Amino acid sequence: MSGDLQIVLPSKDLVIVANRLPVHRVRRTDGMKWEISPGGLVSALSPLLQQSSGQWVGWTGRSGAAPKPFLHDGIQNIPVSMSKSEVTDFYHGFSNTTLWPLYHDAIRQPIYRRRWWNPYREVNQRFAELAAEVAPKKATVWIQDYQLQLVPKMLRTIRPDVRIGFFLHIPFPPTELFAQLPWRRAILEGLLGADVVGFQTRTGAQNFQAVARRYTQARGTGQVLRVENRQVLASAFPISIDYQRFNDMAKTESVMRRMQDIRKRVGHDRKIILGVDRLDYTKGIDIRIRAFEELLASGRWSPQECVLVQVAVPSREVVDEYVEVRRRIDELVGKVNGQYGQLGMAAIDYLRRNLDAEELIAMYRCADVMLVTPLRDGMNLIAKEFVASRVENRGVLVLSEFTGAAKELRGAIQVNPHDIDGLMVSIEEALSMSPSLVTRRMRSMRETIRRHTVHDWARSFLGAVNQ
Ligand code: G6P
Repeated sequence: MSGDLQIVLPSKDLVIVANRLPVHRVRRTDGMKWEISPGGLVSALSPLLQQSSGQWVGWTGRSGAAPKPFLHDGIQNIPVSMSKSEVTDFYHGFSNTTLWPLYHDAIRQPIYRRRWWNPYREVNQRFAELAAEVAPKKATVWIQDYQLQLVPKMLRTIRPDVRIGFFLHIPFPPTELFAQLPWRRAILEGLLGADVVGFQTRTGAQNFQAVARRYTQARGTGQVLRVENRQVLASAFPISIDYQRFNDMAKTESVMRRMQDIRKRVGHDRKIILGVDRLDYTKGIDIRIRAFEELLASGRWSPQECVLVQVAVPSREVVDEYVEVRRRIDELVGKVNGQYGQLGMAAIDYLRRNLDAEELIAMYRCADVMLVTPLRDGMNLIAKEFVASRVENRGVLVLSEFTGAAKELRGAIQVNPHDIDGLMVSIEEALSMSPSLVTRRMRSMRETIRRHTVHDWARSFLGAVNQ
């Protein structure tokens, strides 16, 4: 891969700017240590950064003064400070209570609070200044996600010599929703400071092109917009995963041991229906549980025959809408288990916590059916991880039409996640699909992901930035 990268990165200097650093602090017996965070972005970009003595500008996740820059695993980490009130206003407020719901089809009412806007600008300015300070001459700076949409323009103003890419990991909404945002023009001008603005899907890119033409000076008919004297490419670059890593880990002794353990606990004869999500209202966990409840109520499947294992990783726990969805799911799980569970045999096994990579892959491999049913999702990498882990070509994926992944994973049973009856029917269809069809569909999905990994994603994006 490194040979190809030298072609696409004429300047070998790469700076990543993301809200979070690629590492987090953990307590070990010998004191506090930085450890690499799990996730596709980190595993995709780490090799690039390691080979180019690259740098990563980001937040540690804690308020207060930032630690000094430090080297970890070949990557120079440049921590950005954030005060307590900025965590409230920039992160929980503007990023996660205004932008997050607005960009996810306004599934929850976005709150437009004027006092969050300045902190959003100020924190973006801080990221831009740090990036400007550390980027070598003519470096490539790659800015990530909705928390940092003003950084491209701010950075260009200070450092017109660098190439700038921006990638949005979440959906970009249609005009009628985006138009609500009181700061829409500033956000668009911020993004148009980049040379390339990347989206998960073509629809996202087209939505952006339409509002950019409507609310800014940007002109042009297709994916190349003219902004002042520059050209900005606004295009789709669907993200993927490190296929090889999941494929290889799935075959290890320790994953197989964990699989045996899971099977022993759940029961060898019960079908496992699995959900793995961040605990977020966009993921449709509650509707999924209701569809499973209806399936049990129909009498066609019983808890002796199948179990729903739902893993929900706690997230953004101080935001009201997250508190509310957590309460709702707790309540639903209690209700279904109260009604249908039996002694020593719950209908739903609900784990509200993080799993380590091995346990997660063992779960993926044990699942007969994987439910990925968000109401809206930029891509959804869980769906891709599940597929990459199914080395024996088994397992059925039930996938929401409203994810970026649905555009690629045609071998999944695609569902409208709002439709409880349709969801129930799809779960039943998945539970009783013939083994030969299961294998055929899984094989084709695995091939799709094998051919487009996160490394291909990074390579094609950086290739476009350095064109
Ligand atoms: C989504 C966003 C990321 C974000 C992640 C975790 O995937 O696109 O930018 O980092 O959620 O959320 P958190 O708020 O904990 O960073």
